[in-house]
Amino acid sequence: MKFEFVRKIKDKFKKERASCEDAKKTIVGTKEYDINIDNLQTIKDFKSKYWQDKDNSDYYYRTVEHSFFDAVSSKYFLKYIKPSDKVLDCGAGTGRLTVKIAEIAAEVTAQDISQAMLSHISNGGGGEANIKTVCCDARNIPFADNSFDVVTSCDFICHIIDWKAYLKESLRLVKKGGYLIFSAYNGDNFAKISKNRNMKEILEKMMYGSQYVVNQTKQELLEFAQDNHADLIKIQPYNLFAGTSLWCDKLSAQEIYQLRVLIGKTYEVPKFLELIKLFEERIVKDMDSDDCMHMIVVIKKK
Ligand SMILES: C[S@@+](CC[C@H](N)C(=O)[O-])C[C@H]1O[C@@H](n2cnc3c(N)ncnc32)[C@H](O)[C@@H]1O
Repeated sequence: MKFEFVRKIKDKFKKERASCEDAKKTIVGTKEYDINIDNLQTIKDFKSKYWQDKDNSDYYYRTVEHSFFDAVSSKYFLKYIKPSDKVLDCGAGTGRLTVKIAEIAAEVTAQDISQAMLSHISNGGGGEANIKTVCCDARNIPFADNSFDVVTSCDFICHIIDWKAYLKESLRLVKKGGYLIFSAYNGDNFAKISKNRNMKEILEKMMYGSQYVVNQTKQELLEFAQDNHADLIKIQPYNLFAGTSLWCDKLSAQEIYQLRVLIGKTYEVPKFLELIKLFEERIVKDMDSDDCMHMIVVIKKK
């Protein structure tokens, strides 16, 4: 029984390894974008166009990772949400987090710049009565000050180059004592890795092709909170096995990419997911935040 389980995983890995190259081509895009990692404008242009495209949004909806998200990541957001809360989920995309919040909160508004992404919420599984959608830029959201109890975002801040403008807008919208909760890439970990490795190579080949990943250091977040009448409550490391954490400086960019794909598939094996979940809950949660590539940040408005 034990060996059968191991054999099944090995087979899965073998198949995945064979399809890595194809997967990479698809992730980089069905369409070609003119991105030069040394030219910020090309990255900005790419970021503003990519999500508007219907093919890209359909692809995202089909492929976005759910098992690890449901078992681990979503919990870090949900523990701050109460049944009476009005929540704004920024950069909500196809609603992976929005629908989870809707199971708890009184009301949740999914905000996104792309109607193509949002349409999956209204047309798909997230048709719950307590979900609203609003299509606009996260730096300029058409609601009054203090309209929400909590503002969340998942896998979003890494896509917004002037991230402070987005966080300021979130703080304007949240009530006094309310929370901003968002997942982010850890700038301290990036700094550590880039001492040993060519960061450009990592970003170009690993991070979804050439898409530049915006990240924040703990110091930057502390300063942002201090300057904006808020407290940095928590930096929670998570998703150690994403293949982009501790071992990042030991592998080639191609190996890191393959690891990401393989680990993504591992999450779909229920017994593995259970082990990873235990590991995340017991070990990763107490690790130094700069040992982890991913973090959940909690900021409270004073
Ligand atoms: C990686 S997806 C994350 C979607 C969702 N939160 C999830 O976890 O699956 C990033 C989303 O950010 C949105 N986005 C990018 N720039 C934005 C902006 N300036 N304002 C609002 N949304 C934006 C994109 O349209 C896309 O839906």
